[in-house]
Amino acid sequence: MTTENNTFPLKGTDYVEFYVGNAKQAAHFYQSAFGFQPLAYAGLETGLTDRCSYVVRQNKITFVLTAALTPESEVAEHHRKHGDGVKTIALLVDDATKAYEETTSRGAVSAQHPNKATDDNGEVITSAVETYGDTVHVFVERNNYKGLFLPGFVAWEPEYQPEDCGLLYVDHIVGSVGWNEMDKTADYYKNVFGFEQLISFDDKDISTEYTALKSKVMVNDNMWIKFPINEPAVGKKKSQVEEFHDFYRGSGAQHVAIATDDIVATIAALRDRGVDFLHVPDSYYDTVVDRVGEIDEDLEVLKKHKILIDRDDKGYLLQLFTKPVEDRPTFFFEIIQRKDAISFGKGNFQALFESIELEQANRGTL
Ligand code: FE2
Repeated sequence: MTTENNTFPLKGTDYVEFYVGNAKQAAHFYQSAFGFQPLAYAGLETGLTDRCSYVVRQNKITFVLTAALTPESEVAEHHRKHGDGVKTIALLVDDATKAYEETTSRGAVSAQHPNKATDDNGEVITSAVETYGDTVHVFVERNNYKGLFLPGFVAWEPEYQPEDCGLLYVDHIVGSVGWNEMDKTADYYKNVFGFEQLISFDDKDISTEYTALKSKVMVNDNMWIKFPINEPAVGKKKSQVEEFHDFYRGSGAQHVAIATDDIVATIAALRDRGVDFLHVPDSYYDTVVDRVGEIDEDLEVLKKHKILIDRDDKGYLLQLFTKPVEDRPTFFFEIIQRKDAISFGKGNFQALFESIELEQANRGTL
């Protein structure tokens, strides 16, 4: 899949930065609950005055947890409005200056001009453009850098080094946008980034009595970057997409899906460490084989760990969703194992929505 617009190949997700209320505690949560390893730190000790950041890593996934040190910090402003959430989806490129020039010339709004940062380990060039809501894409060019993370960060080496949970890489990141904004956002990725549309579905595909959503999945040419874009559709009551929008106060990243190659072991490890997942009714497993056919895994084991299954014309996938990982009912994680499937679990949405609606009813937000 190529398009003439794709003049700056994306080589993957470089990092995801969360703006949070308390970065020290959030970093500990990602270590203890999800098995991330401590990597790097920046804050007062390194010369920052308005924020501090803890960087954690597991295999190819790098998360940055950033909190404000002063009420005047833009991090504090972001957090006051949105609560804990994704600020930055950073993309690895060979040329951050070219990526910036290409995207801004096609209509992207600048968030940061190309900037070279250096230290003893070499140089990194970054630039940034805005996307949905207050979220930004940072382009990271690090071919000439051998340091841990970025210039300005020092090694963070606490004694606590938890075991990992088999989380391998970012599979996709879903953007949740407002009413009538899905097409505009999908067009942005098409026209500005040269992405193509992989799949679309609408409220005829995905709805329960109360909940409905529309989605378009935008992917880059090597399919390493997959951004489903969701918007709410009219239902009898408030959908989860609308609930996200209300509590996040605008568009934002709704979930990050993380790949594993052994979902049973990963989910067991995460549950052991206290990660809460959406409830899946036992009845789901009564009919799932009729829908997905033969699978390699033992259905009883999947049922025990409440793992969901779906199939497309390429293969099947196993997945499960956490509950929101912060106070507001906003951002959550998906754990996914692909067995050749390239889709996103549409067949599970019905079962899932019914589970989410139970949670919403408990919150009084349905
Ligand atoms: Fe997903």
